Amino acid sequence: MANLFRVDNQVAVIIGGAGGIGQALGAGLAEYGAKVVIADVKGAEEGAAEIRGRFKTSNAVGMQFDITDEKSVAALKDRVVSTFGTVDILVNSQGINKKFLATEFPVSDWDIMFDINVRGTMLTCREFGKVMVERKKGKVINLSSVRGVRATAWSGNEGYSASKAAIDMITRSLASEWAPYKINVNAIGPSTIATPFSQKTLEDPEKLKRFLASCPLGRVGQPIDIVGACIFLASPASDFVTGQILYLDGGLTAIG
Ligand SMILES: NC(=O)c1ccc[n+]([C@@H]2O[C@H](COP(=O)([O-])OP(=O)(O)OC[C@H]3O[C@@H](n4cnc5c(N)ncnc54)[C@H](O)[C@@H]3O)[C@@H](O)[C@H]2O)c1
Repeated sequence: MANLFRVDNQVAVIIGGAGGIGQALGAGLAEYGAKVVIADVKGAEEGAAEIRGRFKTSNAVGMQFDITDEKSVAALKDRVVSTFGTVDILVNSQGINKKFLATEFPVSDWDIMFDINVRGTMLTCREFGKVMVERKKGKVINLSSVRGVRATAWSGNEGYSASKAAIDMITRSLASEWAPYKINVNAIGPSTIATPFSQKTLEDPEKLKRFLASCPLGRVGQPIDIVGACIFLASPASDFVTGQILYLDGGLTAIG
């Protein structure tokens, strides 16, 4: 039982791994024994170097790629397999949010958000899923959001919320399709977490006050608040858990 949460020698690919949450998840998985790939459109090598510096036993590597480019995603999968031999854990922690009033939403912004958040999640699942299906083994963890199930009292969130609801259904559908292959597919739905992604909200006293009023625990989350759930979903502790969205939200969805 002591090893229930260990991921020793498991190969974990963190997409968006140089981001605020991705970096914390990469470090957490490395600390619990995984071989970590930090995959990102920017900062991948720096992100991996940071993990190697913190955990001397880690052989984390950085791989730069662009999730909006289908060939680049396939090439990333090939690089991971040629470097580490396989993939056991896929974490989709990439994402962007572009807010506009519904009457003003530029379609190009809608498209890039869906390319990165939704199409990107499906592409990495497709490519790394090929390896997992063949081996009949795998753990997929998608970063969703409370916004996949709760609209905001303020304007401009249609695109982001819709993209996260799509990620929820990709998660449930893949959990069903890949259950015969012993691949667990789950998602994590955070509320506001202090990263570059949420900087504008956190710097605006009105927006911060509004968020804190919606959160029973009365504080902004930190990237470390996501790590335990990720290790759980990546480890044998979650072998009977699939198709779930786990809300790490300080209680926001409990009262919303
Ligand atoms: N921070 C929050 O408040 C919050 C709340 C709920 C959900 N989330 C979700 O968590 C995930 C991680 O968020 P974060 O706070 O770490 O954001 P972040 O902005 O710090 O990191 C996102 C990462 O995605 C990468 N990325 C963007 N475009 C890419 C592309 N084309 N190809 C490859 N990588 C690309 C970025 O370079 C960045 O490193 C996202 O899916 C986000 O929607 C965040």
